[in-house]
Amino acid sequence: MTDIFTIAIDGPAAAGKGTISKAIAARFGFAHLDTGLLYRAVGARVLAGVDPVEAAQTLQAHDLERGDLRSAEVAQAASKVAVIGEVRAALVDFQRAFARRAGGAVLDGRDIGTVICPNAEVKLYVTASAEVRAKRRFLELTGKGEVTSLAVVLADVAARDERDMNRAEAPLKPAADAVVIDTSELSIEQALQLALTEVSALK
Ligand code: CDP
Ligand code: CDP
Repeated sequence: MTDIFTIAIDGPAAAGKGTISKAIAARFGFAHLDTGLLYRAVGARVLAGVDPVEAAQTLQAHDLERGDLRSAEVAQAASKVAVIGEVRAALVDFQRAFARRAGGAVLDGRDIGTVICPNAEVKLYVTASAEVRAKRRFLELTGKGEVTSLAVVLADVAARDERDMNRAEAPLKPAADAVVIDTSELSIEQALQLALTEVSALK
């Protein structure tokens, strides 16, 4: 199969975007790009002392393989560099090229359906209440041995939501033509089933 087919999955932290994206990619044999990892990799380089714009413009494949990218500290740094227009601009070409690769692609992030791939064949906006998302992220972080509390994780998630939704460049919001899936009361399996139904209807 050489068709170009792009699935855009956006939404706030710990809504279930990554889990749904990976499962859809596996089901249809598409490639998957977690675009948050690009911003996390830039954030991690900034924490190491590199200028944000330079960090984005010179990002290398090996920067995406650092072990610390999933930490809460790097998540905050990522959302801070993500407000900078030149940082976002430096990452556009790579994401668009990925989206158009032969055989299909799933990209998850914040601005895929609105800015990166406004013509994506399928657009989903996956969300959930901040409390539910904070609980999920708390379980993930403590499961990996990070020492934190639910209150701290909720404050982190809320701070990132606020920054991501209110920035001038590519703010987090559902595209006008996105299907919204609220996973607050759904298991992963139920959320995935809804997403697969949407994709299958358009595929
Ligand atoms: O990619 P994103 O940050 O949106 O979320 P994720 O990494 O897919 O999911 C965050 C955590 O929530 C994972 O541990 C999922 O297993 C869990 N989750 C859940 O318990 N129920 C859902 N309906 C969706 C995700
Ligand atoms: O996994 P989680 O949903 O917690 O975060 P992520 O997807 O790894 O994204 C980390 C941060 O990068 C977000 O809080 C956004 O500020 C930024 N980001 C963005 O601005 N645009 C994207 N397409 C993806 C991530």
